[in-house]
Amino acid sequence: MKIVTCVAPINMAVIKYCKCPWLIFYILTRCEIFFHCFLGGKRDDDLILPINDSLSASLNTHVMCAKTTIMSSPNLKENKFWLNGKEQTFNSPRLNSCLKAIKDRCDQSLPHLNWSISICSENNFPTAAGLASSAAGYACLVYALAKLYGIEGEISDIARQGSGSACRSIYGGWVQWHKGSSPLGLDSIAQQLFPANHWPEMRILILVVNDTRKKYSSTIAMKRSVDTSTLIHHRANRVVPERIQTLSRAIAEKDFATFAEIAMKDSNQLHAICLDTFPPCVYMNDVSHAIVSVVHAFNEYKNDIKAAYTCDAGSNVCIYLLESEVQDLVSWINYVFPKSADITQQEYYRGLPLEQRNMDK
Ligand code: ADP
Ligand code: CO
Repeated sequence: MKIVTCVAPINMAVIKYCKCPWLIFYILTRCEIFFHCFLGGKRDDDLILPINDSLSASLNTHVMCAKTTIMSSPNLKENKFWLNGKEQTFNSPRLNSCLKAIKDRCDQSLPHLNWSISICSENNFPTAAGLASSAAGYACLVYALAKLYGIEGEISDIARQGSGSACRSIYGGWVQWHKGSSPLGLDSIAQQLFPANHWPEMRILILVVNDTRKKYSSTIAMKRSVDTSTLIHHRANRVVPERIQTLSRAIAEKDFATFAEIAMKDSNQLHAICLDTFPPCVYMNDVSHAIVSVVHAFNEYKNDIKAAYTCDAGSNVCIYLLESEVQDLVSWINYVFPKSADITQQEYYRGLPLEQRNMDK
C-alpha cells in the first residue's frame, strides 16, 4: 500500500486568465492538427489553454488551502474520490485527464500503476464560491499523484488540465502562466518569477462577501465570454502583453503604486468583459462595488495608492496591500461594514477545528 498527503494554497491573480475555446488552437496549422489527431486527440478534448498570459501570487501554504491524501493499494476494488467528506463521482473528465496524463508520464513498470486509488481531499475554506478552490484542489491533486507515481519535473501543464489556474498554485511566490503556443499545451506552463520572500511585506486581505456556491461555473462563463465578447480579444492581444511586462517590473522593483494600478485596472477589465458577454455574467454585487469605492477613497485619503482590489469570478474581493497599511484599511472596512450581531459562517468556521468543519454546505 502507498499513501501520500500534500497541501496546496490558492493563488490570487493580478492579471487574470481567459480560456481559449479549443477551436482557435485547432486551426493553427495543418501539421499540428495532424499531430494532434495522430495522438488520438478529439475535438472535444479540453486542454484548458488560455488566450493570454496571467500572473498571480500564491498564498502561504496553510492559510487557504486544499489538503489531499491519496492511497493506492492492490486491495482496493475501485477508484474513489471524497471531497470535504462527501463521496464524488470518479467519472469527472478533468479528474480523469489529470490521472491519465500523470500515468502516461511515469515509469510504466511501476508495480502500483494499475492498483486502484482512493482520493480524499478537504479545503479549509468554502468550495466553489469564487475563492479559487479549483486552483488549490487540482494543484494538490496533481502534486500528490506525481509523488505517488514518482514523477519529477514539470507538472503544471497537467494541473492546468484540471483547472486552468491550478497550474499557478503548483509554485509558491509570484507566478506567471505562459499561454504557450503549442496546440497540445505542452508549453502552456507556470513559472515562478519571484519567490514568496522577495516581497515579504506584501499582504492579501480576502473579504468574503458570499461563501455560497456561485451561480455559474467559471468554465461555462468563460466559454460564453470567448464566444460573444469582443473586448476579451482586444484585451488578450493589445492589453495583457504590456501589462505583464510592466507588472513583472513593478514586482521586481517592489513598486507598489504601479503594481496596484495594474491590479485594479485588470480586475475592472475582467468584469467589463463579463458585462460584454452575451447574455452577461454578473459576479460583483453591491457589496463588492462598495469595497471598490472604499479602496479608492482610502487611496485618495492617503494621497497615494496604498491598496489594490481584485475580484475574480465571484463577488468576493481580495485586497493587495503592504503590511504597514493593513491596520488602517481594516479599520476603514470595519467602519463601513460594521459586524452584525449574528455569527457569520466565516466566524463559525474560524472557531472550529478543521476536522469538524463541513465547508461544502
Ligand atoms: P472556485 O471558485 O472555488 O474555484 P470552481 O467552480 O472553479 O469554483 O471550482 C469548484 C470545483 O473544483 C469543485 O466543484 C470541484 O469539482 C473542484 N475542487 C474544488 N476543491 C477541490 C479539491 N480539494 N480537490 C479536487 N477538486 C476540487
Ligand atoms: Co475555480
